[in-house]
Amino acid sequence: MINKKMQQALNEQINHEIGSAYLYLSMAAYFGSAGFDGMAQWMHMQAHEEYAHAMRFFNHILERDGKVELLALTKPKIKWATPLAVFQDTYKHEKFISSKIHALVELASKEKDHAAGILLQWFVTEQVEEEATASKILQMLERVGDSGNGMFMLDRELGTRTITTGTEEK
Ligand code: FEO
Repeated sequence: MINKKMQQALNEQINHEIGSAYLYLSMAAYFGSAGFDGMAQWMHMQAHEEYAHAMRFFNHILERDGKVELLALTKPKIKWATPLAVFQDTYKHEKFISSKIHALVELASKEKDHAAGILLQWFVTEQVEEEATASKILQMLERVGDSGNGMFMLDRELGTRTITTGTEEK
């Protein structure tokens, strides 16, 4: 059975992951209305992935006879000046999520919760990938600058992203 401290912290992480999905959905809406359909697709896929992350914590709590408690979501940002500004926020947000995962790793270690520790190891690796991906897209946007052709190509490339739920073996 999961202890109360760990349970509360994992419930809060469910909220952060669903909150991430909500933020990325808001970014998808921005891209959709700004005519960047490829980037909108990329953000939709990212939102799906975040939902899958939340479900990993959700299932872990239930499997250990804990209680899932869904918390209130805050309204995400809805406006950005440019696609570059969106991905700056994405990268910043992923760094924030990494800090939350690292704090959970420390808590699991302090509470001697080895089961949560194993679950969290997957997330440590996942966050390295999440940050790297956001950083790479950010760099590409910086390189493209004001080039309409470059933006067109990048939008098309990002639109090829298909669903990855984060539940596959990695
Ligand atoms: Fe679930 Fe993008 O961190």
